[in-house]
Amino acid sequence: EKGGYDHFMMKEIYEQPNVIKDTYRGRLHANEGLIKMAGVDDNIERFSNAQRILIVACGTSWHAGLVAEYIFEEFARIPVEVEYASEFRYRNPIIGDKDVLIAISQSGETADTLAAIKLAKEKGAFVFGVCNVVGSSISRETHAGAYTHAGPEIGVASTKAFTTQITVLTMIALRLAKLKGTLSNSDYHRYLSELEMIPEKVQEALQTNDMTKQIASVYKDATNCLYLGRGYNFPVALEGALKLKEISYIHAEGYPAAEMKHGPIALIDEQMPVIVIAPKQGHYDKVVSNVQEIKSRSGKIIAVVTKGDEQVRALADHVIEIPETSDALSPLVTTIPLQLLSYHIAVMRGCNVDQPRNLAKSVTVE
Ligand code: F6R
Repeated sequence: EKGGYDHFMMKEIYEQPNVIKDTYRGRLHANEGLIKMAGVDDNIERFSNAQRILIVACGTSWHAGLVAEYIFEEFARIPVEVEYASEFRYRNPIIGDKDVLIAISQSGETADTLAAIKLAKEKGAFVFGVCNVVGSSISRETHAGAYTHAGPEIGVASTKAFTTQITVLTMIALRLAKLKGTLSNSDYHRYLSELEMIPEKVQEALQTNDMTKQIASVYKDATNCLYLGRGYNFPVALEGALKLKEISYIHAEGYPAAEMKHGPIALIDEQMPVIVIAPKQGHYDKVVSNVQEIKSRSGKIIAVVTKGDEQVRALADHVIEIPETSDALSPLVTTIPLQLLSYHIAVMRGCNVDQPRNLAKSVTVE
């Protein structure tokens, strides 16, 4: 049942090239320049009239929402707010019938997310669900939605649900960009083809397994760990830190790289592993200078870089090379080595990877 892997988590990490394909199959038509998603197409008025999009979710799904915020605003020029469902539901939020609320949930059963949906519906918003579990409470409670086709996710630490959520949300953003004419024709078509190529790039990123295992053996006894990224890869830093803490019980924090100098830099010494997500596209030069700041304080640098990178390599203690992608789609690829790294560290520490202490796969209590 684990398909030859030692743990469900590893099986699910390796399923990602296929499930991303399953998720876009029948929806993404790169050759024709089309995105077809029934849940969006049938409600296109609600989306085109949206004054803003509110995204609510918890945990890893909330991180997917943060990536989506960057993508929606860049591609479709619609203002987006992302909020923890648990905060949203208890703060008397301003929300009306011109709002579209997108709820993201792997299980479709998360109590806070469900409550946020009910609240938004009462206030007249159009509520769209992005769920993995077919027929789940959230998929029934929303006005419309799009399933991620990740298949059952058994490992408590969410992996393939995250990348398929981002895939669905990217397709929605592209669909709206087409509708609103907010992307140039060439960018639009380039993103469609690039999304189609993502499974191959994820496959290639899985080849970082040996390298992440080697790095894991060096840092498995760390007590703290910092993850840094900028722009589209800031949420990936948060997700990398969450993956590490939940399965290996190492304290980890994710930060936007530029925020480091406003506090976390005080933590850096020769004991502190800092995982920096520094792909070539995006704010590369800025990240390089952040890496220099860590280096000059003797922090240990583990850098996720684009294949062929030289500048960061010269500064880092370890480099993990991934294939090149555009900035906007890079989270789908940069996430992979971070999943593998936390997996190997957790295994080496003897942790119960698939069922970490104190955690449940679906959180049906608030
Ligand atoms: C992280 C994790 C949790 C869930 C969160 C939301 O690996 O598993 O943080 O992401 O409980 O769950 P769903 O997506 O089912 O609403």
